[in-house]
Amino acid sequence: MNQTFGHFEDSSREYVITRPDTPLPWLNYLGQDDFFGLCTNCAGGYTFWRDAKLRRLTRYRYNNIPMDLGGRYLYLRDGDTLWNPMWKPCRTSLDRYECRHGLGYTRITSEKNGLAVEVLFFIPPGETAEVWQVTVRNQSGGAKSVQLFSFVEFCLFEALNDMTNYQRTYSIGEVEVEGSAIYHKTEFRERRNHYAMFACTRKVDGFDTSRDAFVGVHNGLHDPKAVLAGACTNSLAHGWNPVGAHQLNLNLEAGAEESFAFVLAYVDQGTDEKFEAPGILNKNRGRALVKKYAAPGAVTCALEKLRTFWDGLLGALSVQTPEPNLNRMVNTWNQYQCMTTFNLSRSASLFETGIGRGMGFRDSNQDLLGFVHMIPSRARQRILDIAGTQLCDGACYHQYQPLTKKGNAEIGGDFYDDHLWLILSTCAYIKETGDQSILEAVVGYADTPGSKETLLHHLETSIAYTLQKRGPHGLPLIGHADWNDCLNLNCFSTEPNESFQTAGDVDGSSAESVMIAGLFLYAARELSALYQAMNRPADCARLDAAYAEMLVTIEEQAWDGQWYRRAYDAAGNPIGSAECEEGQIFIESQAWCVLGGAGVENGRAAKAFESVHQHLFTPDGIILQQPPYATYHKELGEVSSYPPGYKENAGIFCHNNTWIHLGWCLLGDGDRALEYYLSICPPAKPVETYRCEPYVYAQMIAGRDAATPGEAKNSWLTGTAAWTLVAATQGILGICPGHDGLVIDPCIPRDWPGFTATRKFRGATYEITISNPRKHSKGIQSLVVDGKPISGNRIPIAPEGSTVRVTAEIQ
Ligand code: GLC
Ligand code: GLC
Repeated sequence: MNQTFGHFEDSSREYVITRPDTPLPWLNYLGQDDFFGLCTNCAGGYTFWRDAKLRRLTRYRYNNIPMDLGGRYLYLRDGDTLWNPMWKPCRTSLDRYECRHGLGYTRITSEKNGLAVEVLFFIPPGETAEVWQVTVRNQSGGAKSVQLFSFVEFCLFEALNDMTNYQRTYSIGEVEVEGSAIYHKTEFRERRNHYAMFACTRKVDGFDTSRDAFVGVHNGLHDPKAVLAGACTNSLAHGWNPVGAHQLNLNLEAGAEESFAFVLAYVDQGTDEKFEAPGILNKNRGRALVKKYAAPGAVTCALEKLRTFWDGLLGALSVQTPEPNLNRMVNTWNQYQCMTTFNLSRSASLFETGIGRGMGFRDSNQDLLGFVHMIPSRARQRILDIAGTQLCDGACYHQYQPLTKKGNAEIGGDFYDDHLWLILSTCAYIKETGDQSILEAVVGYADTPGSKETLLHHLETSIAYTLQKRGPHGLPLIGHADWNDCLNLNCFSTEPNESFQTAGDVDGSSAESVMIAGLFLYAARELSALYQAMNRPADCARLDAAYAEMLVTIEEQAWDGQWYRRAYDAAGNPIGSAECEEGQIFIESQAWCVLGGAGVENGRAAKAFESVHQHLFTPDGIILQQPPYATYHKELGEVSSYPPGYKENAGIFCHNNTWIHLGWCLLGDGDRALEYYLSICPPAKPVETYRCEPYVYAQMIAGRDAATPGEAKNSWLTGTAAWTLVAATQGILGICPGHDGLVIDPCIPRDWPGFTATRKFRGATYEITISNPRKHSKGIQSLVVDGKPISGNRIPIAPEGSTVRVTAEIQ
């Protein structure tokens, strides 16, 4: 069934799309460090440097008709036939079409009337430029003279202003053209030191930079005036809408081919040498870039660099298990998605416009969990950036802009889970790297200019903050919301234009969150383990006492009989209790209480998880809560604003499913863990219903109460990415970085004979073979490291550069 639109090609790490009219646009990302492009299977999308809001190079119109309009366009005029190698925007039927989404590149090949075109899009590592390598081949058997036109529409850099402030933007657009290079330099005359360049490495036969000249005021992208006329007009834009379009006349003998590249670049000229003559852009850096990619072999060499980069990254973690979908997700796509969420948080996708949220405090801390093993140095910097948006009392800015690294004042803080995630990310980083020096790194508090506190101080402030912000049951206060952004217990909003998250004042409110209590247990234990590794017993004891006290509070105040309650509302009524009419049982509190260690000794954990299985699990994943809220409850907020079955109102919110996967591993049921894992695993879903990309996780799948159960939305930028990787590799496969070694603690389906894995850890490579001769799920009976039996399940840290052979048997 999944073959209708495409298939995985595991050997090349590509997803091959075989028809352009996918159920939804299927997206890939170009770029891996500072410069990014969104690129769909029809080359739709846009390009930006660092910040999708503040440094956008090209335009995209959101939610257009048809969907996915605007992007990297090429037009071919072959006699009377006008067509696009990427199908859009003309949608002329193609004789052949194939799109290969790979790691950091997309390659689209198509054919029409004997002309074959291959276009490769990618961003060379370290470059602030997107390269489109084009090859046109005449396979028709006779000579052909065709025209090829390129097209991008420039964004005037600040993407929100660009789409809303036409009284200004229609008057400021400026360009320059030199040879085959089009320079978009709006606002360079005043406060910008950067420009965009769209150039061709081949000589061109014409260009346009005015949209009115190229497209026409009354024409569309599917019938641009200049293409219909067969000639660009060499227009220079003054105001209105600057575009970049080239015309190339190609005369190809039978069997002949031509290759060239387009380069779309962001060029920072700095403040010196902005101009080469009065008012004339200094183009030295742009020229150098075109020259670089015009050189023979330069593109191939850059692509090779990209491949080497990804081979290196993915080489750090790869597994071979009996489950092919787990293998392809863990080995390739899930890690790839983790890099994307690390880079972009929730900013720019087909569901996030790039002008809304920047980096989320809780989101980025969680994203890091799936990325830290890839490039630890970038994770380190990110932790310090995030910590820098915390306030001195422990509260945090909920979001910040990646360009400025400053908290977003509109949304502010007071989400009382945020600060605790910083402990999880920091501990994950230290376990991965052993680099305890990060704790001494100086990071001030956002509201205290000149403050010179350390990261460790931030972690302690976070613990203290939760301990201090407690309600009548002794449970942590919830503030605007906890992880569930839609559980707004202090909002009481009756105004349609208010934000559910910030409408209510949290001061003086007593609404409490059991989920935060569970998260606190987890965080306190993590920090205590860190202190133990640092040999600071007094600090361990202090945290263990706080842990014990919170644990008692949870067991006394939050147990409902068959599961853990979710929260107490502002009036002290329970949420997520059998005594509620709707919203009787929620995922989050079962997951975090159990992951935090509640219910493990008294049997409640097993009971709570059986309740999850009975009330929440479906073949499409675990529903966030049941029964859904049928009507709006102002005392609950946004959760009850969604129609039943969608989003946080009884949708399958994939992100929190993964915590239950981990919980089953903790409880030792590997069959359930894998069954649940596969229930939301995109390649295992029926694509006609699921609709989103089969190669990356989506935030949400509509639940059984929805009108469209099984339909996914909001793919790519979701915490599901990091957490599924953690659930699969540390939960099910049980390969866990620890402070003093690699811990092996798998929890697999009983009928798996075993699996193998390669894991780089602190510079050494561990070749791991696990066997399961007695058909159990969990518990290591024997562990042999480089031929020597070891007691317990921890492999001591090996010297950097060494290869360690590990075999283990499940009891
Ligand atoms: C979104 C938010 C995330 C939140 C989740 C649940 O994914 O980005 O911060 O935890 O929704 O509401
Ligand atoms: C809405 C969404 C939630 C998201 C939040 C971000 O509440 O339902 O998923 O986290 O917006 O502000």
